[in-house]
Amino acid sequence: MQLFLDTTDTAVLKDLAATGLVDGVTTNPTLIARSGRNMLEVIAEICGIVGGPVSAEVASMETAGMLAEGRKLAAIAPNIVVKVPLTRDGLIATREFAAEGIQTNVTLCFSASQALLAAKAGASYISPFIGRLDDVGAAGMDLIAEIRAIYDNYDFDTEILAASIRSPAHVAQAAMAGADCATIPPDVFAALFKHPLTERGLQQFMADWKATGQSIL
Ligand code: E4P
Repeated sequence: MQLFLDTTDTAVLKDLAATGLVDGVTTNPTLIARSGRNMLEVIAEICGIVGGPVSAEVASMETAGMLAEGRKLAAIAPNIVVKVPLTRDGLIATREFAAEGIQTNVTLCFSASQALLAAKAGASYISPFIGRLDDVGAAGMDLIAEIRAIYDNYDFDTEILAASIRSPAHVAQAAMAGADCATIPPDVFAALFKHPLTERGLQQFMADWKATGQSIL
């Protein structure tokens, strides 16, 4: 399973990328706004830090605008994935990007039927938003399993990118449901390393080791 970082914070990205466990990055207009930086500059910097897929989202609502913006974004670096909203215009643009060999991440997916259309349009990635579904009382994780079943039934190549992840449990559940990737906020990514029993066990081991008075080196 590929693990992406959902961030435009390049300092945090550098820190986590140093673990060798960050396979890619996703961004969205909210994260760009939060960075306070020029989008083209921050995306270019991110592409210099991570060699894997970097999603950069179009801002236009119409197909022609999405195509123009997406082509400009795709020219930033070879690892750019153009992020397109799951709308009629967005899927028409997705189909054209696929014909041009430009990778796409179709975002704001909230139903299995939307995901079916995205795959038929030739999306490279589909982003079902787990946490936002949970927020409105739906079972977000069920959507991952439904999309997995549909894509397997018809051998679609579109990768399932679990998005709107809120906890380490979400990451594990998405992996069990067959997601190909998950995009994870930095605080949740950092929490993936941790478990209270690991901390407690390590403290005990270190205390016992010190009591032996030994040294390995
Ligand atoms: C995914 O591509 C989105 O950027 C992100 O996962 C949205 O997460 P949120 O619902 O926490 O804003």
